[in-house]
Amino acid sequence: MSKLNSQRIALVAMSVVVGFAVLIGALVAPEGLSAGDRNPDGSYAGTKLKGTTPAQWRLSWHEDPAHEATISWTTAANPESSTLFYDTQPRGGELAKYAQHVSATSGRYSDDEWKLWYNHAELAELKPSTTYWFVMVSDGASSREFHFVTAPDGDTDFKLLYGGDSRSDRDSRRIMNRRMRTLLEEDAEILALAHGGDYVGEGDELEDWVEWMTDHELTVTKDGRMLPVIPARGNHEASGPIYDEIWNTPGKKDGNFYASKIGSEFLLITLNTNISAGGNQADFLETTLKDNTKIRWQVANYHRPAYPAVKSPGSALEHWVPLFEKYNLDIAFESDGHTLKRTCGIRDGKPDKTGVVYIGEGGLGVKQRTPKDDRWYFKGGVTASTLHVQKIAVTKETLTVESITDEGEVYDTYTAKVRKR
Ligand SMILES: [Fe+2]
Repeated sequence: MSKLNSQRIALVAMSVVVGFAVLIGALVAPEGLSAGDRNPDGSYAGTKLKGTTPAQWRLSWHEDPAHEATISWTTAANPESSTLFYDTQPRGGELAKYAQHVSATSGRYSDDEWKLWYNHAELAELKPSTTYWFVMVSDGASSREFHFVTAPDGDTDFKLLYGGDSRSDRDSRRIMNRRMRTLLEEDAEILALAHGGDYVGEGDELEDWVEWMTDHELTVTKDGRMLPVIPARGNHEASGPIYDEIWNTPGKKDGNFYASKIGSEFLLITLNTNISAGGNQADFLETTLKDNTKIRWQVANYHRPAYPAVKSPGSALEHWVPLFEKYNLDIAFESDGHTLKRTCGIRDGKPDKTGVVYIGEGGLGVKQRTPKDDRWYFKGGVTASTLHVQKIAVTKETLTVESITDEGEVYDTYTAKVRKR
């Protein structure tokens, strides 16, 4: 064989390999993200951190998601100015056409090794149930255009996702992020994700958050819809400052507990199992439940379970469960156990159909444990060792929670009916 022929064969072989790599890339990397977002094997690399280019974007909801939102991003350089341009019409990234803009506050993340900056744009006076298109800009470097939908303020049907424990296993986390993205693309009624905590393995290490935020970009739909996150603090975030730098301090500093009203008839109370469950926090919980007895649906989200499927109960059992039962909370969402669970209705430490149901408990990308399914509160309930996310459908008649696996299978469905308070 001549030298020329061998070179030709090598060239053809190389083209086939490159062709396959491009094909795999097209299949694996999300649409709407550029080739630069892909690793050579086709896996997702994330928006590159370079200068003041907005990367690692996320959107958080706190108390009033019908009218407020925080849009945040990371830059590799300290920007002189960061601005969010937004409008109720798509403007294709042409900054001069956006009707509104707001300055973002910037600061350096608390980490000795990584030099990165957070940027938080706080949007206020938004219109309920409205799509907002937006572009993030730091020192002239722009993101592409994204959009999100604000929460309703009336008695409207909507859906949420719930999930926790997205730490430690990036492959599983990316699978679950892609699952959430698919759910969002299939169902426009899904508005946000309530996260039950333990985003990362080491909450004081920015490197872990950099990986988490990069993977979080995978939840954006192919047409650019961003999934708002309603965050709760987990034990792996401990009491460190980075959590507040990621999520713009949900609730008060050193508290991170708050209530979000979504529509006129749904209350989500986010609690913090990393600080005292009694004292201020128990007072806040009781006041919130007492002041909102007329709201049709009431749920809680916190990390460490009162009725766990794997470990021993947290202090929620002593301080919060009596209040949940006194004010007839509908569902408590719990994480931390790395397993799928739904308890029976529980009141006074016994099965009771009028009691509170506990659903969880952490399946967004961490290795799943074996649940202790012989515990009394799982008689009439469900346990499984599978990655999962819950989809919550809120209507006037029912509150339905589907536990959906990484494969997209509905493993369990629980439906609550309206109760008297
Ligand atoms: Fe945990």
